[in-house]
Amino acid sequence: MINALEAGDGRVTIIDQSRLPLEEIRLEIRTVQEMAEAITEMKLRGAPLIGVAAAYGMVLALNGSASGPAEMEALYDLSEMLLASTRPTAVNLFWALARMRESFNEVRGSDLETIRSHLRVAADRLYREDIDVNMAIGVNGSTLFEGAVEIMTICNAGALATCGYGTALGVIRRLHQEGRISNVWVCETRPVLQGARLTTWELHQDGIPYTLITDSMAAQVMKSHSVAGVIAGADRVAANGDTANKIGTLGLSILAAHYGIPFYVAAPLSTVDMKVDNGGGITIEERRGDEIRVVNGRHITVPGSPVYNPAFDVAPNQHISAIITEKGIARNPYFDSFQALFAGA
Ligand code: MRU
Repeated sequence: MINALEAGDGRVTIIDQSRLPLEEIRLEIRTVQEMAEAITEMKLRGAPLIGVAAAYGMVLALNGSASGPAEMEALYDLSEMLLASTRPTAVNLFWALARMRESFNEVRGSDLETIRSHLRVAADRLYREDIDVNMAIGVNGSTLFEGAVEIMTICNAGALATCGYGTALGVIRRLHQEGRISNVWVCETRPVLQGARLTTWELHQDGIPYTLITDSMAAQVMKSHSVAGVIAGADRVAANGDTANKIGTLGLSILAAHYGIPFYVAAPLSTVDMKVDNGGGITIEERRGDEIRVVNGRHITVPGSPVYNPAFDVAPNQHISAIITEKGIARNPYFDSFQALFAGA
């Protein structure tokens, strides 16, 4: 299995996703500052992985020394703030930090060693839970399809975006295990190319048949091939089911509705933010313009061209046929569906 992140003693090792697929380099992260930088610079990315990485970031933060409880609290608060400021859209980041805060509160006032090992246990639990959750999403999602299918996906919601197996790619992996994937249409996902660089890398390693397309080819593929469904991941799902995911997801949801193709979101319940009523309340990260202007270190446009670079968009709930979670399948009206799933969780 692809291990995007491995926790060791006093360090965390990650695959540097900004270098894939041409270079497979593992980076050692030893401080909370390095973890924050790795998240901001997208050396690791994907909502669930960002959350777990932040949890380990908090463990690393306490590797430093603190002379007493007050200093320890200050160190904790500052580190938490630093990690929370890395990327605004994926709710898993804030969800994981909240889970770590609960663990911290359980041992508040204890000595540094006790707190550090308690937080390490908590982060390890989040890591293991994520893999189990993804496998359950895979099983639940596979029930939505009959026979052998062609699936379209965007960005990378795979093992690289999680602690293993993946969400959207978890469903695809499960279908492949059942011998039911005839092709995965992989949208390249401009500008950071998570589809072209990362999803193809994962599918290739697992021997899952795929075809890479540019984002602008999705309509032509939907029109001229038998696509059984689009499956996307999610960075934050509002209480009404509106879903923020990688830029381009909104367009795919509109196209799928036009061509009568089911559009599915695969996401753990930790990505559902019941505090946000609808997509309008989700902060969309805007990233630096050079992600668009510069490719492989070379300008592909007039240097300094004005650009707009939102990293995410929001697919409206009416275009989402179902949201696949680890506890079952949610359908419109999503608010009620989520409440039932959370109640059974
Ligand atoms: O900017 P990224 O690469 O972190 O965006 C990732 C996505 O949009 C994924 O689809 C989402 O986080 C789900 S990952 C299981």
